[in-house]
Amino acid sequence: MKIGIFSKLAAGAAMIALTAGAAKAQESVEVLHWWTSGGEAAALNVLKENLQKQGIGWQDMPVAGGSGVQAMTALRARVTSGDPPTAVQMLGFDIKDWAEMGVVGNLNDLATEQGWDKVIPAALQEFSKFDGDWIAAPVNVHSTNWLWLNKAALDKAGGEPPKNMDELFALLDKFKEQGITPLAHGGQPWQDGTLWESVVLSVGGMDFYKKAVIEADAEALSSDTMRQVFDNMSKLREYFDANFSGRDWNLSTALVIEGQAGAQQMGDWSKGEWLRAEKKPGEDFVCIRFPGTQGSVLFNSDQFVMFDVGEDKRNAQLKMAAAVEDPAFQIAFNTVKGSVPARTDVPDTEFDDCGKKGMKDLAEAAASGNLAGSLAHGHAQPSSVKEAVFDVVTQHLNGQITTDQALERLPQAVAAAQ
Ligand code: GAL
Repeated sequence: MKIGIFSKLAAGAAMIALTAGAAKAQESVEVLHWWTSGGEAAALNVLKENLQKQGIGWQDMPVAGGSGVQAMTALRARVTSGDPPTAVQMLGFDIKDWAEMGVVGNLNDLATEQGWDKVIPAALQEFSKFDGDWIAAPVNVHSTNWLWLNKAALDKAGGEPPKNMDELFALLDKFKEQGITPLAHGGQPWQDGTLWESVVLSVGGMDFYKKAVIEADAEALSSDTMRQVFDNMSKLREYFDANFSGRDWNLSTALVIEGQAGAQQMGDWSKGEWLRAEKKPGEDFVCIRFPGTQGSVLFNSDQFVMFDVGEDKRNAQLKMAAAVEDPAFQIAFNTVKGSVPARTDVPDTEFDDCGKKGMKDLAEAAASGNLAGSLAHGHAQPSSVKEAVFDVVTQHLNGQITTDQALERLPQAVAAAQ
């Protein structure tokens, strides 16, 4: 009898719990992103867990492929079929493009309530706002002009980090003598483009980068300086290993982590892989600005765009956006991801030396006019132009076209894509 009452009570309690659970489970977000490497997934987990604690369910829609090219293709398919995801990781000009189509949600109320205007730097607001309205929540600031070095290999080569292209080539020669792959590069268009933009900045300096890449000036794109850029790209290619073609960026990072390669040019998401492998900056690896680009920063910022998917999802979307801008989250996420906070009021205390350098470099570059958007990561030109540049850069890097042809085609391809 007693058992019966208790089991009835227990059943009742379970029913209530189930109903509450069901009500909570309805509040969820479906998130399209391309954070599939070990370090990236670890960072994303910080957000997932944060939302789960608030009772917001997480439906994962990962689309592998660095820099999000494939993710954007998947997004187009979802929107075309009338079923956009709740929230989408997005970069720079893609945000503007989707906003123009009028399919994204407005975050103004939350932004006002949380004072985003005062703490999100102008360079990011440029992409988080459309027609004066907040339409995206920036998660981080990444930067692409970095070089990641295996510390043991560097020490063996004399321990001196290279400060310009000549010193870089001298170091790569030493790595070659050590019998390791000097430069771990993954031959995918976006990775070729990421390397290329660092070389443009190194060879030409910030003014030239702005002229050629941001303004897409035809003369700059076929100039003698650009010739030097392509010559340097050909030279760098000689330091790749035989298996570079098509390799994912994180697999190249792994080669440097394991000491099979000496260096990798890559954005600071690369640090996420080192940390994931329990390696420490200054002990196991060294992060430096790509030789010749000290003082300048090419940036990109991952932002979450909330699609207009109806009122019943709105609360979960706002909670997600609020969670993203929470200063504590900004620290917890970005210390794992390799990026730096999207807010200017977050202290650097919890960040490692590479993170501290990233934050300092960013602030200084912004103040001195040496901050510019990364082309390869969507912050310099719309996707059509970006991909037109990738085509020329990749064909040239793979030896399909000569430097003369690259210089002729680059301004033509850019003009055709504009
Ligand atoms: C970038 C993105 C980073 C990182 C990287 C490699 O475009 O901003 O967060 O994920 O691609 O996938």
